[in-house]
Amino acid sequence: MEKSLWSDSVELPKFDRLNKDKKVDVLIIGGGICGILCAYLLKQAGIDYILVEADRIAQGITCNTTAKITSLHGLIYDELIGSIGKEGAQKYLTANENAVKKYDQLCNNIDCDYKTLSSYTYSINNRSKIEKEVRALNDLGVKAKFSVETPLPFEIDGCVGMKNQAQFNPLKFIASISKDLNIYENTMVYDIKANYALCDGFKIHANKIIVATHFPFMNKHGSYFLKQYQHRSYVLAIENAQDVNGLYVDEAQDGLSFRNSNNLLLLGGGGKRTGKPCGNWRELIEFQKQYYHNSKVIYKWATQDCMTLDKIPYIGQYSANTPNLYVATGFNKWGITSSMVAATILCDMIQDIKNVHEDIFSPSRSILKPQLLANGFEAIINLAYPTTKRCPHLGCALKWNKAEHTWDCSCHGSRFEKDGILINNPAKKDAKVEQK
Ligand code: FES
Repeated sequence: MEKSLWSDSVELPKFDRLNKDKKVDVLIIGGGICGILCAYLLKQAGIDYILVEADRIAQGITCNTTAKITSLHGLIYDELIGSIGKEGAQKYLTANENAVKKYDQLCNNIDCDYKTLSSYTYSINNRSKIEKEVRALNDLGVKAKFSVETPLPFEIDGCVGMKNQAQFNPLKFIASISKDLNIYENTMVYDIKANYALCDGFKIHANKIIVATHFPFMNKHGSYFLKQYQHRSYVLAIENAQDVNGLYVDEAQDGLSFRNSNNLLLLGGGGKRTGKPCGNWRELIEFQKQYYHNSKVIYKWATQDCMTLDKIPYIGQYSANTPNLYVATGFNKWGITSSMVAATILCDMIQDIKNVHEDIFSPSRSILKPQLLANGFEAIINLAYPTTKRCPHLGCALKWNKAEHTWDCSCHGSRFEKDGILINNPAKKDAKVEQK
């Protein structure tokens, strides 16, 4: 597997494995940035908690993110005003702006390459979409501006910008905030019951449990296998390219993203629904060669994101009939900022404090959205597809990913090494595939 710039630059603290029964007030499952922020905030609130991680911390999506700290999530506010009303869109904005400010406070005292800058969404062919987003943001009280000027090396039809956003090195941040937390690594949870979690030969009893495992792994509650799919995308870190002095993303889902980290330009894109053919690094390298003649690719890696039906994450009670079980998932490519939103909301819920933003993120909201049909169609096609290489999650056909030499599932995004070893959840075990 390709190593990210962050993984190559940071030594994370190590934690013991848990191997006996344990009793605790709050159990957090999953040691990515979301789980770690939950642990950090619960510790600050004086709550008895532990976090367990099946592998080492921050080895899943967190080490592969492009680490943009921003409330500008592509084009979202015009759509949200249409779907959940102005008050709902305002809550989404405020929850995210609070998260951006919280990072700003925390990173003040942490050496993590934190930098405040502006965030932009551009379009290469749809000026009116950008104009609508500017109007929506202005309506919500943000002084966003329309522009056609960017440092990007190609013409655009327009872009919208937001000031006072940020970027950092996510693993330097994690290394600092995690070192004094109650974390157990290499501790896999296989199942969750009403007030305990089952590990390999022992139990963790907890009054409340938070599932922060990227894609929730329990299928019998919450229907997450209907409510979200995964999107895979690719990143190059390029030396001697350019300084874009901001965070830039294309409004199109298969477009490009840009940010710098010290002397490197991080170019993202080439993505598609996991398991589908896509441009991958090849598309990014073509772009690099076309626009940055004397540049050099120093790192390349890939990541994947859980995409919800309505662009809003699922944060809150895991399902309507699991009162002490909580979830944070579906961050739609904005995992760093959404993780802080999730940790803040869940930490309040755990303490029975009413969070004014929690209702719009409720995992029990309506699922009647067009994307539900697309997800259902994908499942039917892949369940019927004739192959012996099947995903152990719910049985969909696995597809060979030529760029990464892995078996990928387009139903919910589980991925496996070429010999079937599990890489990405929601599957919990290896797949049976012949050697390729
Ligand atoms: Fe769900 Fe493969 S990830 S069936």
